[in-house]
Amino acid sequence: MVKTHPMWDDYPNIQAHLVACLELIIEKTTIENKDIEKTVTALIESQGKLLRPAYFLLFSQLGNAQKAAYDNIIAAAASTEVLHLATLIHDDIIDEAALRRGNETVHSKHGQDVAVYTGDLMISVYFELLADATDSVEIIQLNTQSMKQVLLGEINQMTNAYDTAITFDTYLNSIKGKTAQLFELSCYEGAYFGQCKPEVIEQSGVIGQNIGIAFQMLDDILDYTQTPENLSKPVLNDVKQGIYTLPLILGLEADKDAFLPLLEKGEQLSDSDLADLVALLHEHDCIERAHGIAREYIDKALALIEQLLDQPEKEVLYTLTKTLLTKDY
Ligand code: IPE
Ligand code: IPE
Ligand code: MG
Ligand code: MG
Repeated sequence: MVKTHPMWDDYPNIQAHLVACLELIIEKTTIENKDIEKTVTALIESQGKLLRPAYFLLFSQLGNAQKAAYDNIIAAAASTEVLHLATLIHDDIIDEAALRRGNETVHSKHGQDVAVYTGDLMISVYFELLADATDSVEIIQLNTQSMKQVLLGEINQMTNAYDTAITFDTYLNSIKGKTAQLFELSCYEGAYFGQCKPEVIEQSGVIGQNIGIAFQMLDDILDYTQTPENLSKPVLNDVKQGIYTLPLILGLEADKDAFLPLLEKGEQLSDSDLADLVALLHEHDCIERAHGIAREYIDKALALIEQLLDQPEKEVLYTLTKTLLTKDY
């Protein structure tokens, strides 16, 4: 049986469904090319947090679970993780990242060709799983639109790379696309497949968007505050790639002249420059202030979860979201 991230040990019900999702993904990615097949299996076994299928499953449980077909729920939940994996593989090529989930990234280990094909395989399996799960044109359209928004968020981020005049709104737009969109989709779809009432389905999407925004803001903070060992992926990578995220945007707004001499070095930032940059961020309280802004989105998500009906599943949703958004994952 595939092992999940230890965070799910406290939630055996969700954990069992997550294992079913992972086993289905392994089954669907069985292909003749064993190098690529093994690459996918290694990723599945690398204990990602599985947040998108987990949120899907939690929201599906708010509805009429008996009426919903279990196989369809597992296939649709699995599809959210598969799309996520495709974006991670391609993202690591673009970001020139050598580490993902504590392992060498696909492109570092097997080269760019295998990485592009493995990502493409995941995209085709994503649609295969969706087609297995539903014949609703509305859901297929929602997925194609979501996938497009993720891409547009990434493109928006690329367009604004190295721009020291980048605004909070531009940043927010990028992260709404590249990250929050898939959280929104997972929560909305979970409620939809669980046959929740239309207003609950809508609210689930809004909750997902707020969770996704906060999650990316926190991830962007961790890039400045953690070690690669803690994070299982590279740190201080964003700024080197010209991706100016929330802490740095706040720093630039507060005292542009202090940051410009460092940022003008572009990709040539040395380790000591990076240390100076982090020190400047702390001097200007940027980490704390970025946390404060993320907190607003966390609180919005938690308040909306509280408004949902009183049922045991809501408690899990609330506790999980609170823990997730306050821990250094
Ligand atoms: C990584 O997502 C990409 C971001 C949106 C920051 P996760 O942190 O959910 O990655 P895994 O799946 O647990 O590795
Ligand atoms: C996360 O991108 C969003 C996608 C993968 C589309 P990032 O580049 O910010 O995430 P990490 O830090 O590599 O996980
Ligand atoms: Mg990226
Ligand atoms: Mg990246």
